[in-house]
Amino acid sequence: MIFLDQSGPTPPRRVLSLFGTRPEAIKFAPVIHAMERRGFETINVNSAQHRDLLLPLIEHFQIRIDHSLDVMREGQTLNGVAARVLEALDPVLAECRPDALLVQGDTTTAMAGALAAWNRQIPVGHIEAGLRSGNPHSPFPEEMNRRLVSQMANWHFAATRRNWQTLKREGVAAESIFITGNPVIDALKWTLARPGERPPLGGLLEKLADRRLIVLTTHRRESFGEVMGANLETIRDFVDRHEDVAVVFPVHPNPHVKRVAAEILAGNPRVHLVEPLAYPEFLALLSRAWLLVSDSGGLQEEAPSLGKPLLILRENTERPEAVECGAARLIGGSAVRLRRELEKAHTDDAWARKVAAMDNPFGNGEAAERIVDALLRPVAAAAAAA
Ligand code: UD1
Ligand code: UDP
Repeated sequence: MIFLDQSGPTPPRRVLSLFGTRPEAIKFAPVIHAMERRGFETINVNSAQHRDLLLPLIEHFQIRIDHSLDVMREGQTLNGVAARVLEALDPVLAECRPDALLVQGDTTTAMAGALAAWNRQIPVGHIEAGLRSGNPHSPFPEEMNRRLVSQMANWHFAATRRNWQTLKREGVAAESIFITGNPVIDALKWTLARPGERPPLGGLLEKLADRRLIVLTTHRRESFGEVMGANLETIRDFVDRHEDVAVVFPVHPNPHVKRVAAEILAGNPRVHLVEPLAYPEFLALLSRAWLLVSDSGGLQEEAPSLGKPLLILRENTERPEAVECGAARLIGGSAVRLRRELEKAHTDDAWARKVAAMDNPFGNGEAAERIVDALLRPVAAAAAAA
């Protein structure tokens, strides 16, 4: 029983990193790089919950993949993903016998991976721990995934002080919580320091040089159907009313998103539906934006570093720091509010000017090193196990 044997003060040396979706790969990459720099034996397992969204990231960040679980299916169900991760990860855990397993965030890969490790009594480290929306049903299923991982984790890597306090309030031992920042900022800085060779989007940005550019992304399950449809119609109508505005929308491959995007936005000359972009290309697009409109979690963390204002297409956010620092405004699932905020941003650029020069509450690019420092502190594993 690895867990029981390691309740003493020995830091892990052989660490299995489990990821499988786009944001997990981005946020894991700096941590894997840092563990390699610090001499850990790294075992990198790709659940492959995503396929096409993931492969360019693995290439970009040069992550070595030791095992791939191949779980993605077209139109997959949550239970299908969870079952396939549990089933396929177990023999890898048995074979590799890691000292610790790391998961990131709130995906089904993270939740099922933590459970698989728990069942084999392997200690779990949780990157981006302690985020809470307060509503167990939203974001769905992410809020519950995150809470479940917190129950199983031995190391909690909190991005912010608020995340630390949340975990503390829930009864997590203070010795096992570490404020590290979010490694997405490390990934962003790493990527901005390595600009791509090709012009992003095949020169589209040059063609849109004289437009105010909205970058749009949306993919959350709780918005599927009416809410997502109403948001996209509102954006279409806003673009129709304003000649100087254009939209670039890298469409998530989820069939629920692709269908509604094509139905509502296709054919509009100033709305450009494009394939999901490689990370450097997407950051180049964001850097050129006038306004971001998105339900993405990662974008809420990236926006302050890029100095871009963001309208959050969600009822709530488990990243209230983005709203409190002034970089983001919450739309709350209301098309009326979305329309009002779009018009407000169009008539008054004070918000954009304020966001352009702001510190990022989610970190400064040193999260990965701090996570490794925490893993190396013997007291953490011992305290959490106790
Ligand atoms: C998942 C995560 C969500 C995260 C998002 C990031 C869960 C429950 N959800 O949502 O937290 O914000 O990833 O993007 O873990 N697909 C492809 N190719 C891909 C990826 C997806 O075709 O590379 C299509 C497939 O039809 C797949 C569907 O998208 O079945 C949904 O993918 P899934 O991972 O289940 O959910 P996401 O909506 O991507
Ligand atoms: N992203 C990307 N290409 C795109 C859209 C997003 O590289 O076409 C990046 C984005 O910068 C962020 C991450 O993907 O780091 C967010 O992923 P997503 O919105 O799918 O998931 P979430 O953050 O909502 O979990």
